[in-house]
Amino acid sequence: MTRPRLLDLYGGEQGAAEGYRRAGFDVLSVDIEPLDGPGPLVVADALTFLREHGHEFAAIHASPPCQSESDLRHRTGYDYTDWLAPTLAALASYTVPWVVENVDSTTQLPGALILCGSEFGLTVVTQDGVRRTLRRHRRFGSNVWLWGAGGDACSGRPIVGVYGTGGGGQMTRGYKATLAEAREVMEMPWASRAGVSEAIPPAYTEFVGRQLMAALGEVAA
Ligand SMILES: C[S@@+](CC[C@H](N)C(=O)[O-])C[C@H]1O[C@@H](n2cnc3c(N)ncnc32)[C@H](O)[C@@H]1O
Repeated sequence: MTRPRLLDLYGGEQGAAEGYRRAGFDVLSVDIEPLDGPGPLVVADALTFLREHGHEFAAIHASPPCQSESDLRHRTGYDYTDWLAPTLAALASYTVPWVVENVDSTTQLPGALILCGSEFGLTVVTQDGVRRTLRRHRRFGSNVWLWGAGGDACSGRPIVGVYGTGGGGQMTRGYKATLAEAREVMEMPWASRAGVSEAIPPAYTEFVGRQLMAALGEVAA
């Protein structure tokens, strides 16, 4: 059976892409940087590639850089480029199933599905001997209706965050994973520190991807 083709824009080190592969898609990632990952990647500008090749794909995913949408912008004071608005505008003309992912603090995806690692049993025993649950809230906007995974269950549990650079330990934003812990809890053993910090865990997009498959009439979700 042929696998439907999915275009993965702003692919990074392919956390999202890997989840769509698990769901049964044949995935091509596009990134402006020549990054390593488990699948094929074209080095190009995402929206230019979408304009030229978008019609060749059965479904589209986009993870535009999120700095303009994150709480970080308040702390740093930098004026970050908004990649989300032009990406949403470009996708609006597509009738194939599409998904745009971003941080949960964005105001540009109102009412969109929010997923957390706690909904997928993503845990790791950290170097202090504690089993911690991945707290990573990401928002998924789509032109198809997406159902949730049961609801965030991270509050009240020991949690681990995957962000930034350097080693693990207790930080102002809670316990920060070492690279080894981050790779394990995100299920991305191939990833670099920078790549895993920017990624979506494959478990999230496997869950979303099965729903896109159902929307395409390929399989029951
Ligand atoms: C949030 S990260 C993507 C994470 C990835 N989807 C994953 O799950 O592993 C955003 C990515 O956008 C890429 N990027 C930035 N500007 C771009 C552009 N104009 N075209 C394509 N990719 C771009 C960055 O290099 C970075 O890898």
